[in-house]
Amino acid sequence: MKPLQAFRARFLDVLASIYIYNEHRGYTSLDRVLEAVRARCPDEAGFIAAVEKHREDEHKHYHMFRRWFELQGRMPLKVDRTCGHIDHFIEAVFGCTIEELDTAAIVADGDAFEKLCRVIMLTEQRGMSQVEVLLKNRHVLSDPVMRRIFRIVEKDEPDHWMPYHAWLTRHGRVTARWRERWADFWIHKSLMLAKLPAIFVNRRTPRLEKWPHDDDSVYRAAA
Ligand SMILES: [Fe+2]
Ligand SMILES: [Fe+2]
Repeated sequence: MKPLQAFRARFLDVLASIYIYNEHRGYTSLDRVLEAVRARCPDEAGFIAAVEKHREDEHKHYHMFRRWFELQGRMPLKVDRTCGHIDHFIEAVFGCTIEELDTAAIVADGDAFEKLCRVIMLTEQRGMSQVEVLLKNRHVLSDPVMRRIFRIVEKDEPDHWMPYHAWLTRHGRVTARWRERWADFWIHKSLMLAKLPAIFVNRRTPRLEKWPHDDDSVYRAAA
């Protein structure tokens, strides 16, 4: 394989491995968000439906990346929660992991629920601008399947932050605090400038042996 082709193949492999982790993390975490939304806002059918759609979209995205790996004849690289934007963000804002988030406490506390909505909103806004960048990347554009995946993601993405923004506005809540925007910025920079290149060069990163939708524990105790 020529150097450019080898670089491209590795870049797309790492990129898709990070994406599939985040999509899986997204839809599984949204199951818990939905629980909180249904309990906190039982009369807001429109908001509940929007979060359900968000969950369905992330689930669909996960399977699009899974199919891309199947076409490659490889499993994704075994990344871990240090590659998850939402993992870092929840830790920065709530001081705990996603697993440790106390859904009942968030339902009971208006400020905590507001914070959760903001974290999701900012994460999804970041996701949307990242897709715009990737759709100009020549390596992504060189792979027709990858290009198509990101075009679909691009179309879905506005629906993933607008409902939370609308909820915050409707309830007179703050739509973002500078500290949260700052955290989001640094998380993104460290993922793109440190984490992605580190996986790129580490040839010993193992691959998943099972799909995460078949076995939820595959990312635990990851590389
Ligand atoms: Fe997604
Ligand atoms: Fe999304």
